Amino acid sequence: MSYAWQTYCKARLLAAGEQEDAEPEYMRYIVDLLATPEFKSLEVIPHHIPTTLLTHVRCVSYVAYSLCRRYGGDSKIAARGGLLHDLYYYDWHDFSDKSHRWHGVLHPSRALKNACLLLGEVDKRTADCIHRHMFPFTPIPPIYRESIMVSLSDKICANFDVLIARFSSVRRRFEHDTELHFN
Ligand SMILES: [Fe+2]
Ligand SMILES: [Fe+2]
Repeated sequence: MSYAWQTYCKARLLAAGEQEDAEPEYMRYIVDLLATPEFKSLEVIPHHIPTTLLTHVRCVSYVAYSLCRRYGGDSKIAARGGLLHDLYYYDWHDFSDKSHRWHGVLHPSRALKNACLLLGEVDKRTADCIHRHMFPFTPIPPIYRESIMVSLSDKICANFDVLIARFSSVRRRFEHDTELHFN
């Protein structure tokens, strides 16, 4: 099993509220954010099928945290930056709402603004995690180790989400490795 897949599966378990006791340091880094109404509201916003936006940001957060623990970087900033990277409050699939236009390009700025509103201020590394995570879809790359890990983790999680949704063999493997099941 690849390290990326193994970490993604662990992230999905944590996002489902399982095995949190096994990751006390990680949970300590993010528990205050998860308790906010802003993050609770992400639970009902769809993201990549079959995940919600809350599941997605929790996965990216844990994968980025794990990459920093393994390869270097501030794992706390990666954990929190990963959680904050998609902090917007709408379903981007809803094209009837004109305010969602240019979501792919604009949502990093929206998420950074929402993070600043939530936290009062955001340090430059965390801001880079949020603002530059869409590279290379957006032109300016992340420059810190933590923000590079968040951007990479976003791609890892998004790709596994889509593979699980598209291919029953990958879904069965996921269910086997996590014992999480879909309806
Ligand atoms: Fe995003
Ligand atoms: Fe994302």
